[in-house]
Amino acid sequence: MLNIVKGPYLQWPTQDSIKVMWETSQPASSTVTYSRTQRVHSGLSGGFHTLEDSKRKVEGDGGTEFHTVTLDNLDPETTYHYQVISTGEDGDETSSQVYPLQTAVREETPFSFAVTSETGGFGSDDFNREIFEQISRYRPNFLLIPGDSVSRGSRYEDWSRYLFSPGRTLFTTTPFYLCQGNHEENSSWYYRFTSFPEPGNYYSFDYGNTHFTALDSTAFIEYRDGKPIPREELKPGSAQYEFLADDLAKTEETGQTWKIVYFHYPPYVSGDYQVEEMRALSPVMERHGVDLVFNSHTIVYERSHPLTANRLDEKSGIIYILAGGAGAKHDWFHHKQSWHTAKSLAVPHFLQVIIAGGTLELHAIDLNGQLFDTLKLTK
Ligand SMILES: [Fe+2]
Repeated sequence: MLNIVKGPYLQWPTQDSIKVMWETSQPASSTVTYSRTQRVHSGLSGGFHTLEDSKRKVEGDGGTEFHTVTLDNLDPETTYHYQVISTGEDGDETSSQVYPLQTAVREETPFSFAVTSETGGFGSDDFNREIFEQISRYRPNFLLIPGDSVSRGSRYEDWSRYLFSPGRTLFTTTPFYLCQGNHEENSSWYYRFTSFPEPGNYYSFDYGNTHFTALDSTAFIEYRDGKPIPREELKPGSAQYEFLADDLAKTEETGQTWKIVYFHYPPYVSGDYQVEEMRALSPVMERHGVDLVFNSHTIVYERSHPLTANRLDEKSGIIYILAGGAGAKHDWFHHKQSWHTAKSLAVPHFLQVIIAGGTLELHAIDLNGQLFDTLKLTK
């Protein structure tokens, strides 16, 4: 029996393209059909109407369990409905339901995204499903996951158990961006199940008026006897350090309104898992006007004061936000908050970030949908 065992799910949306991925139980062909759609009134559940002349069919290479098909020549911020179809070597066919997707918004259009992490079984497995369900209700344009999405990234079963199964419904409509935590283990599965530009463990993209840069902090730090030790990669001259410096320097010319960086190991948190060594990246981020940094690793929520050069800078400092989402355990905090801590709470949560021109609003929301922290920045 040929089945779809992961997805379909979405990756790397641009204004005119998006990647559709799925996994089948056996090698099979890779076909996606899609069309532009309009909403129509059709009873209580609502519905959509296919614009027949926009119907397209794209064939991927096939002959594999792991399918990636790029839909291109799409229109910006436009809804399409898509379906994936695979035919196995013995003629068995399997197809998904029809799901909506949306291409990336234009530069001036407001948008929102969600942030969560630590779904790798550090709290309860149930948290993951509940958090992804809560996120669905806010209908973000995409989701950022700053690492530890699985318990052991080199174990194939983990990806379904912790990420693709609890996130199944959300991921059919909502692309996610993952960066590596220590629990992804830099495994081949991370690269197989995502679709980011080479080298894949660090990358950047624009969405609306905002620039996002994802880093692989596990390439910057190694743990020896439980102690974080900086690697050569954390020094100027290394491939990833220079990528960050060049990438942020480019934004000075391209002029995005907001700059957001995310990576796993937190430079600032009042919990035990702070990795102060990661502050080596702060000067380059400060120089190029980064607004927000998202981290995880410590399984709490924590928002720092605005910081420059390791000091309070209310005017133009970077705010570091620990979004340890699904793991949250209260005993991961020190008894007293650190000087850099503005707000902290250890409950399972996710973040909703809304960007509308020069206004950025951040909401921290718990499993019950209860708002417990907000931040508003304006330019
Ligand atoms: Fe971690």
